[in-house]
Amino acid sequence: MDGNGRWAIQRGLPRLAGHRAGTENLRRIITACVEFGVRYLTIYAFSTENWGRPREEVQGLMRILEDVIDRELAELHREGVQLRHIGRLERLDPKVQEKVLQAIELTKDNQRLVLNVAFNYGGRDEIICAIQRIIRDGIPADRVDTGLVSRYLFTAGVPDPDLIIRTSGELRVSNFLIWQTAYSEWYITQTFWPDFDKEEFKKALDTYARRDRRYGGLTQPVEETDA
Ligand code: FPP
Repeated sequence: MDGNGRWAIQRGLPRLAGHRAGTENLRRIITACVEFGVRYLTIYAFSTENWGRPREEVQGLMRILEDVIDRELAELHREGVQLRHIGRLERLDPKVQEKVLQAIELTKDNQRLVLNVAFNYGGRDEIICAIQRIIRDGIPADRVDTGLVSRYLFTAGVPDPDLIIRTSGELRVSNFLIWQTAYSEWYITQTFWPDFDKEEFKKALDTYARRDRRYGGLTQPVEETDA
């Protein structure tokens, strides 16, 4: 959800106003996901590196997380949204941790859309955490394969993403789902996140639908091509 800060600065507003506008937009995109039949949405709301931002911005983002749960949870639950969290909760305010856990518990049986919230999340941190748990569980080295590692990640049970959308034109992975996106398709748009509306989202999905996903293989077997 990149470009909130620049969106605000362009309007002479504080950066947090951009994050709030980004949060309102997230609401619209969640509704669009339900309408378009998207079953899994993962949002990158706060990275392990975002702690390095000014205190006021970090605190503001924590407050937004809490406000979203307070204000939106009942409606998300009604819409059939299952909330999940990826990342480490332990560094957050205990009151916020409790709210996140309650939201997860309340919505755990919802099936319409799984909304994975990456908060205090980092791809490298996730892999380190998985390796530590694999070692602690005494898993023999020759049992470590792709499926096993996937089951030890924060995203266990969630399919790898088909499409990654990055707004604001940045061409970086930024430590996001670095294991899971090995064969994801990318869609980059110059639009700042608060302006990334339902039409743009539809355009991204349409573009994705025309992609030829080969997973390192070939679209057609070689024999057929030769023939
Ligand atoms: C990146 O834009 C955005 C973020 C680091 C925060 C995104 C968070 C939200 C929209 C809040 C939603 C959170 C929840 C839990 C619902 P940027 O600040 O890097 O923008 P810039 O590149 O223009 O400075």
